[in-house]
Amino acid sequence: MCDLGHDHGHFGFLVDAPEIRALIAETARVTSAIRDDAARVDALRPAFAALLAADGWLPEACAQPDASSRMGGGIGQYALYRAEDGSLCLFSLVVPAGAATPVHDHLAWGLVGIYRGRQDETVYRRLDDGSDPSRAQLEVAKRQQLGRGEFYTLLPPADDIHYVTTISDTPSISIHLLANDTACVWRHRFDPEHGLVTPFRSGYANAPCPPEA
Ligand SMILES: [Fe+2]
Repeated sequence: MCDLGHDHGHFGFLVDAPEIRALIAETARVTSAIRDDAARVDALRPAFAALLAADGWLPEACAQPDASSRMGGGIGQYALYRAEDGSLCLFSLVVPAGAATPVHDHLAWGLVGIYRGRQDETVYRRLDDGSDPSRAQLEVAKRQQLGRGEFYTLLPPADDIHYVTTISDTPSISIHLLANDTACVWRHRFDPEHGLVTPFRSGYANAPCPPEA
């Protein structure tokens, strides 16, 4: 289920566990009931916290670094649930000890929390107006450390650009519930020092992205 090539569908519940089904069902309920993104994300906090607090639902195969990572650093990104229409996904992100993600954006509302290990997160504020697609002027807006059960919300464009580093001596595993098919949408990686922006599609380790149009 967390390796490419297994005989399963690439959408729906790639990992079928009651804890995951409960969160996805609650997300569907809240999404139809609440129109406002901020209120919706807030309403999802208890269900998301419950998933982070539960043990036993994440297969070890979805908790491993990925040597062939497109993000580099052995970072593994494993789809756990994907809506076929691209409106929602749940995935695990495994960042080896000492490794860091690129500086990147997400382009969708969602919740991100720590399941194992510990991460240091650096969030950037964008100072330019985004009119040049190849450039971005960024400054550090905040830094925080997160451990098991701690999570933050994403409400782009606010606080949507960040990177994380694993500061535990074991890999960190963060769980992401986001309102797109995150690894398959074209998003951006940033070089804050040189003000550069590059199109970026991270890909899942265990599921292909749809063919490009
Ligand atoms: Fe991220």
